[in-house]
Amino acid sequence: MITHRLRLLYPALLARPGFTLAARRLTTQTTAFNTVTDAIKADHRELERYYDNIVAAEPEDVDTKVRWQNMLVWELARHSVGEELVLYPAFEDYLTRAIADKDRSAHLDLKHKLKTLQSLYPSSKEFTPTLDSLIASLRYHIAEEETHDLPALEDKLAIREGLSRSLARSFERTKWLVPTRAHPSAPDRPPWETVVAFLNAPIDRVRDVFLRFPAGDTPAAEKGVKGEGQGVEDFGRG
Ligand SMILES: [Fe+2]
Repeated sequence: MITHRLRLLYPALLARPGFTLAARRLTTQTTAFNTVTDAIKADHRELERYYDNIVAAEPEDVDTKVRWQNMLVWELARHSVGEELVLYPAFEDYLTRAIADKDRSAHLDLKHKLKTLQSLYPSSKEFTPTLDSLIASLRYHIAEEETHDLPALEDKLAIREGLSRSLARSFERTKWLVPTRAHPSAPDRPPWETVVAFLNAPIDRVRDVFLRFPAGDTPAAEKGVKGEGQGVEDFGRG
């Protein structure tokens, strides 16, 4: 059912090989985390791993470095948009606007560096300084969220059972609809054909796309499980 509905919304995207399989995996992906903190932390660990793999690759193994570079760029882009659409509105609702704005500001810095990094080859002399600068900003972002913001948010979300899990699902679903890599030569391009186009898209326009997602279309929602099947609109600002 979910594939059918998405076919109406994203015909070009769904025409791509493997997308139906991705749709089938949605529910397992979005039920994996009991709290939004778990979901965010899992992303952070993945991003750190991608960075470690770039650094660990032999200098002459440019192909391996480029592969991990691409993973880092796209996953960080998806992570950033997922947080901006789902997590930061929750900060505003349950904590303070100042906290949300602080993290948005840190994201802006990350995005600038991400755009630079994605255009560089590992063999260029700017690559390592740019990567190091990016990872320094990323580590600051991770420390702020994991040490201060997320624990404070979880305290507030504890007022209702399943609230944090529901937020985690919204975050995962948002990320799921973002392409995992660039498709520069595909005639049937998804909404964002390059990471730069994606990062440059106004956040309101990005949000509009996600608001059209059939949020309740999951097996858990069909069974009426409380707190499940909520979309980004449950936590986003209109
Ligand atoms: Fe984060």
